[in-house]
Amino acid sequence: MEPVNVYEGLSPVMSITTTKPSYIGAEEYWRLEDYVKDDFAGVLIPNASIRKRIKDLSVAIRDDYKNKNPHFIWVADGAWPFFRDFKQHYREVAGNGFTEQLSRVKSYDGMSSTGKRKFLDVDFSDVAGKDIVLFEDIIDTGGTIRDVFDYLQQHDPASVRVATLLDKRVEKTHPVKADYALFSIPDEFVVGYGLDYDDSCRDLDDVYVLSESGQRRLA
Ligand code: IMP
Ligand code: MG
Repeated sequence: MEPVNVYEGLSPVMSITTTKPSYIGAEEYWRLEDYVKDDFAGVLIPNASIRKRIKDLSVAIRDDYKNKNPHFIWVADGAWPFFRDFKQHYREVAGNGFTEQLSRVKSYDGMSSTGKRKFLDVDFSDVAGKDIVLFEDIIDTGGTIRDVFDYLQQHDPASVRVATLLDKRVEKTHPVKADYALFSIPDEFVVGYGLDYDDSCRDLDDVYVLSESGQRRLA
C-alpha cells in the first residue's frame, strides 16, 4: 500500500532552551570575519531551521483558510524576511489567492521597549470582512501586537489571527496568544532575520544573540 501523508497542522512552538550557539545550517556565520563574529554570543536559530518552520506554517495556513482568501498584514520593518519567505512557500502550496499589506509600528529604542507605540504607516480602512493573518517578528511584552490587534478590530475584519516568528519567554504585560508561533526563545536580545538593534543587523540570515561587546560596539 502507498504510504499516506496525513498533515496534522503546525507542530507546537519549538522551545529553544539554550543560548549556546548552534552552527548547523548557519552558513552565513562561517563567511563572517572573526571581528564581526565577536559582536555575537552565538547563533540562536540557524536559517535552515527557520525555513523549515516557515514551510510547515505555510501548509498549516493553507489548510486553515480553505475556500478563503486570507489578507496578510505584516508589521514592518522586522517581519519582512519572515513574511517574504512565508509568501514564497505559501504561493507554492496555496497559489495566488491572498492579499497583503504592511503596517509600520515602532516601539523599541535600543534594547528596551519604550512602551509607547508609534503607528507610522497604518491604513486599515479596507479590512472590513476580511480574514486577517498578522505577521510579527517577535512578541516580547505583547504590547505591540496587542495594539495592532485592537486597532484592527475597530475596522470590522471577519477574523484575525497572529503569526509570530519568535515568542520571548518574558512576562506578558499585554497578554496575547499567537495562533501560530514558530519558536519560543529565552529572554535574550536577538538580532538578524529582520530583528534589529537600532536598525543594525536586520539583514543577517540567522537569528543571533548579541554579545556584550557587540552591544557596546553597535550602541
Ligand atoms: P513588545 O511590544 O514588547 O511585544 O515588543 C515587540 C517589538 O519589540 C518587536 O516588534 C520588535 O521590534 C522589538 N523587540 C522585542 N524584543 C526584541 C529583540 O530581542 N530583538 C530585536 N527587537 C526586539
Ligand atoms: Mg518589530
